[in-house]
Formats: sequence, C-alpha cells, structure tokens
Amino acid sequence: MPYQSQAPFPHTRFRRTRQSPQIRALVQENTLGVGDLIWPVFVRDGEGVEEPVASMPGVMRRSVDKIVDAAREAADLGIPVICLFPYTDPALKTSGCEEAWNPDNLSNRATRAIKDAGIDIAVMSDVALDPYNADGHDGFVVDGKIVNDETVEALVKQALEQARAGVDIIGPSDMMDGRIGAMRAALEAEGFKDTMLLSYSAKYASAFYGPFRDAVGASGALKGDKTTYQMNPGNTDEALRLIERDLSEGADMVMVKPGMPYLDICRRVKERFAVPTYAYQVSGEYAMIQAAALNGWIDGEKAMMESLLCFKRAGCDGILTYFAPAAAKKLHGVR
Ligand code: PBG
Repeated sequence: MPYQSQAPFPHTRFRRTRQSPQIRALVQENTLGVGDLIWPVFVRDGEGVEEPVASMPGVMRRSVDKIVDAAREAADLGIPVICLFPYTDPALKTSGCEEAWNPDNLSNRATRAIKDAGIDIAVMSDVALDPYNADGHDGFVVDGKIVNDETVEALVKQALEQARAGVDIIGPSDMMDGRIGAMRAALEAEGFKDTMLLSYSAKYASAFYGPFRDAVGASGALKGDKTTYQMNPGNTDEALRLIERDLSEGADMVMVKPGMPYLDICRRVKERFAVPTYAYQVSGEYAMIQAAALNGWIDGEKAMMESLLCFKRAGCDGILTYFAPAAAKKLHGVR
C-alpha cells in the first residue's frame, strides 16, 4: 500500500511558502548583512607588497600601505571591522616574545596607519604570543610547559600597546586563564574605558588552523600542539563555563572558534548568555571551500553565502571571515 500521510494534507502544504523568490524572502527568518562581517587580514613588512598565501587562495599578506588601501576598500563596502594579524620576520621571533609589545611592531604600525588615514572602520587586533614566539606557542614555554601567569603579564603589555596604537576591539586568542580580567583592569587603569574586549573564549585545539599558521609563518616554528590551552573538540559544557568566566572578567563580546564544525556551541552560547556572539570561520574552512570551488566541485560563491548565513541561523551576531569583501560585494550586487 502506498504511504498515507497522517499530516493534515493538503491543509498544510509547506511548498506554498516556497513558491517564489518574493514569498521565500518574506518568510526567511535569518539574513546576512555587511554589518555582520569582520575581515581578518595579514600584515607584513615592506612597501607596495601584496603577496598571495599559497594555502589560502585569494588571501594576501600586505604591507602597511596596502593594508590601508584594503581598509579603505572594506569601509567603502560597509564592512564594520578589520582584524590585523602580523607576519613577523623570523629574525624578530624570540623565546621572550619582546616584539609582541613593541609599540612599533607591524600590527601597531598598521593600526596607526589606518587611524591616521581617517578611515571609518573599527580596528581589531589579536592578543597572543605565537607570531612573535620562537617556538610558535601562544604563551611562554618554560621547561617544555606553556606557563600561564607569566604569559598573562606579557599579554597585558601587548594589549596595552595595541590600545595605545588606537585599536578599538582587542581580541585575545591565547586561551590563558585570567587574561580577560587582567587586561580589563589594565585598560581601565590606563584610561582606555572604551576599548572593547572580544574574547576568543571557546577556542578549540583544531586542525583547521593549518593555513593560518602558514600565513603568519608559525607552522615551521610550532613545537608540539596547543592541546594544553586550547579546548578539546569533544567538550561543550566547558565552552559555556569559559564564556561565563570571560563575561564576568569584563569581556564585551565572545567568540567561538572554529566556526562551521562548532555551530552547536554558537547556539548554546547565544541561548544561554544572550550576549554579542561571534564565530571565526577559520583558515581551514576557507581553504576547503576555495579548494573545492577551484576544482569545480562546488559553486564557491553559493557555498560562501550559505556558510555565512548558517552562522546567523546558529545565533551568531557576526562572523570573522576571509570571505568578508567577497561576501560584501555579493550582498551589494557588485560583480
Ligand atoms: C593564534 C591564532 C590562530 C588563529 C587566530 N589566532 C591559530 C592558532 O591558534 O594556532 C587561527 C585563525 C585561522 O585559522 O584562520 N593566536
């Protein structure tokens, strides 16, 4: 016997509200806007340099002057935030990581250049020692262990220099314990009352960071892995506890990272805390979509837009994504 639906068919026909683009738009619950995008960019030294990152097709390392051009382009597209990651000269990487709080390091120079150019875009920075560390870790390594409290002191110095350079949103991505409270106290003490902290609260020890480590030149340097400070991909409750802790220490916004494999975490965080929640669609996620698209295996543009919309559906208020300019152009109908 053919299957007989028990649903009140044809009273309920779900296809009625899918019949045309107009009706589909009318009933759509979640949308992506340019205001949801944060654009991560890689800064390197030199002048007039735009150098492709091999493992991230379409992504460049740019010298400071080119970063200013990129920031202007992003602002013109309506992208609200640009996030700076330095590719540091290997000669400047030490086990003491002193370059991290050099007021004239690449990240701070790029921040000042964007601010001096008067571009209407918020600048976000990254706080962690890995771009400056001889062994590629986010914290100091002493006798083979990543030491927490000494690292936090260094991160506070790094964050203060970023605030002095004019950063609007500080993004601690190091996963040391107690860093948010320490940074918030230092920022308040130094009069940086409006400097925001977007904490990478729930950051997992992920294989999806591979291309980023190439982009910042940390892959060769990294000794071992980051599993003693980044989260175990098997956990969720811990993510909620980390977020609760960071909010109580003074975070304004929180982040889940990576993005696509962790949408369940985004949903739980948003439902539990109802605070500004972001996801980082990381380098490996970007590389997978680009690689498949370049091989003609998927429609890259559609996959990009679908992946970004899914973050909104999962409860995120915004997304850090290497696709930011491409997505903004698509949203504006620019080809
Ligand atoms: C490290 C940092 C990483 C990323 C942002 N900040 C890599 C890591 O933890 O090893 C990854 C971003 C990406 O993969 O796009 N402080």
